[in-house]
Amino acid sequence: MHCNATSGKRKSRHSKMKQPMNNSNFYGEKSKGRGRGLVDSSGVGAFWNKHYIFIVWIVFILTIAILWSLRHLYYGLFYSSPLEDNTKLLSDTDAAWNALSNRVAFAMKTGAQVIEDRFPNPNSTWLQRVKHYIIVSDQADSRYGAIGLKELFESVGLSLYTFLENRQPLLLESSSQRKTLEVTVDQANVGWWQDREKNLPGFHMLWKKFPYMDWYIMCDDDTFFFLDGLAAILQHPIFEEAMREEIPIYMGNQYNVALCEGYDPSGVTNGSLNPWFAHGGSGIILNYWALEALIDMIPWCMQRFQDCWAGDIKVGLCFQELGLSIVPMGTHFIGVDPKSYFDTYYSQPPYKQSKGQDIVASFHHCDDEEFAFLFALEQQIAGKNKQLIRFKHIAELVSPSFQFPQ
Ligand SMILES: *[C@@H]1O[C@H](CO)[C@@H](O)[C@H](O)[C@H]1NC(C)=O
Ligand SMILES: *[C@@H]1O[C@H](CO)[C@@H](O)[C@H](O)[C@H]1NC(C)=O
Repeated sequence: MHCNATSGKRKSRHSKMKQPMNNSNFYGEKSKGRGRGLVDSSGVGAFWNKHYIFIVWIVFILTIAILWSLRHLYYGLFYSSPLEDNTKLLSDTDAAWNALSNRVAFAMKTGAQVIEDRFPNPNSTWLQRVKHYIIVSDQADSRYGAIGLKELFESVGLSLYTFLENRQPLLLESSSQRKTLEVTVDQANVGWWQDREKNLPGFHMLWKKFPYMDWYIMCDDDTFFFLDGLAAILQHPIFEEAMREEIPIYMGNQYNVALCEGYDPSGVTNGSLNPWFAHGGSGIILNYWALEALIDMIPWCMQRFQDCWAGDIKVGLCFQELGLSIVPMGTHFIGVDPKSYFDTYYSQPPYKQSKGQDIVASFHHCDDEEFAFLFALEQQIAGKNKQLIRFKHIAELVSPSFQFPQ
């Protein structure tokens, strides 16, 4: 799509170069035209002869104005000139999300068993400010506009039923591996076993619905996003440059692949570190070029990694096939809820690298109260003082005795 945009850009540059030449031609004929107009002045021809310079200028200015306003819809045309000066976007005074919201699409994962309880939380808080999103679930649900797995599979050219019939049961080599998985997931939960099939076709559907976004983000129904903090990160000059240079970005909270494709839960297999993947609940962040690279691989990866127990790991393994490694952002995208974060998890990597001053982008496993609390906090801090939410703001409230290491 951006290839088209590039040729479009070239064309528009061309026409921009031509326009002054055309004008100078008109200027060149100016005296001649007017002279003739004085001699045979009749009807439309005379009007044209008299006013054509004016008319040509009006058309020219209108064309520029239309192209200028279109750049918001299809800004690839003007991509070489960035829309905003990004040098100050990391400061507190910019309401960063408003500048970016037209260029980001979310896929929120949910399930038929939980949608009724959980969807109202994001829907009444951060998701209200999101312009483009889809809801992916195991069952289609028109009350929420949720797309079901059957439709997601059909959309990539696969049949869900054939897929589930042929899917192998999980084969874990040792009892310690089985035990690791048992404490990680509730294996009796049918919804959970379907959940891992949503990520890859969910990204496919997101691309299909919103083909011209800068960023594609997948999260859970219990993920809370601070959209302004997220936008400040996404608009960092390094990511804007990656976008212009067509460099794919796969980003999120980095975890090691474990218990898929023979990777050991210790994090090290055959003497080398397991590959990384972006943890789904903290948010999987892809720029345009990353999803463009992934898109044709999706049906193949869905089948190739069908035995893998987690959907976000499947996405990571698919990017590994493409040779694309993750941009680690575990200091901003948090896989647990705020209280557990400060009380329990802060001492573990990668969280302990987060500083009090660091911007928070997301929390995961948030319940009703935490959604309400975080949203109120955001409105209080961002609304009044135009500040981004930082770890210190949250620590002060949820864990007053917490001390950030110096
Ligand atoms: C989601 O929020 C919108 C607007 O705030 C509201 O109209 C709609 O009923 C909500 N949907 C659900 C399913 O709660
Ligand atoms: C580790 O080594 C074994 C034996 O050579 C091999 O079968 C297996 O595929 C390797 N695992 C990984 C994840 O590379």
